Amino acid sequence: MSNITVAQCLQLAPELERISDSARLDIEIILCHILQKNRTWLFTWPDKKLDEAQQKIFNDFFLRRKNGEPVAHVIGQREFWSLSLAVNNSTLIPRPDTELLVEVTLELFAHDQPDQVRNCLDLGTGTGAIVLALASEKPRWQLLGVDKSAEAVALAEKNRGQLDFNHVTIHQSDWFTHIELRAFDVIVSNPPYIDPQDPHLEQGDVRFEPRSALIADNHGLADIDLIVHKSWNYLRSDGWLLVEHGYDQGEAVRKLLRARGFVAIETRRDLGGNERVSLGKKPQEST
Ligand SMILES: C[S@@+](CC[C@H](N)C(=O)[O-])C[C@H]1O[C@@H](n2cnc3c(N)ncnc32)[C@H](O)[C@@H]1O
Repeated sequence: MSNITVAQCLQLAPELERISDSARLDIEIILCHILQKNRTWLFTWPDKKLDEAQQKIFNDFFLRRKNGEPVAHVIGQREFWSLSLAVNNSTLIPRPDTELLVEVTLELFAHDQPDQVRNCLDLGTGTGAIVLALASEKPRWQLLGVDKSAEAVALAEKNRGQLDFNHVTIHQSDWFTHIELRAFDVIVSNPPYIDPQDPHLEQGDVRFEPRSALIADNHGLADIDLIVHKSWNYLRSDGWLLVEHGYDQGEAVRKLLRARGFVAIETRRDLGGNERVSLGKKPQEST
């Protein structure tokens, strides 16, 4: 039997439509990964045939995707902030919405001199997405990413190493338990924030992600509450805390920030128009 062409692979898209809203794109991403080409190449060379080895991998990947496994897990990779990150089932697959947290953080320091050194902490770093994106923009910053999961720490460290970012440190910590008390300029976090009863946990890609990365008690607010409370002692005066949260948690998070004494509190919306990132500043006069 002759080998399958790029066009024939793409024609299999309808078979994925039951489990995916982006069936054709899923196959394009899989093909780009296997062939080590970009999407333009796929459109330019639809008649190119996969060789034996490539076809075998394609069949395996296609089947896994058809069984619902996220594309990022199938190929072991996901783009975030133009960085290609290794992913696995130890933590969350980085989401485009989280780029807002990176954008807003950079905005806060937009008037810094290029050589200004800042200390940044990323709590629940997962793949390292946030801390590595910030590091890619801020070569003079000193950045620390921590996660409770040893597997996630190993993954983030692998991503850090591949990018050769020596100004980033990754280590294991249950929130602040293994973080030296010091005055960070900015603390960022995309913690677990889904209510354990949320029915979405049984649908789509999240079924393949660990609950430890997704859910938090108290209607999803328990970890955010702890982070808001404890960050205070790890921030310098005028330092910022930024937290990603669920679309319906903005008001609750602003309330937590206010109660802890933060000022300049606001919430930013993601591209879908949902409240997604809340932030506050530790004021000068605080103790
Ligand atoms: C929603 S994921 C975010 C991952 C990554 N920052 C991102 O935005 O893609 C939350 C992360 O918090 C970590 N986590 C959960 N509980 C934690 C804890 N007690 N201390 C530190 N990290 C924790 C999980 O292992 C997971 O990697």
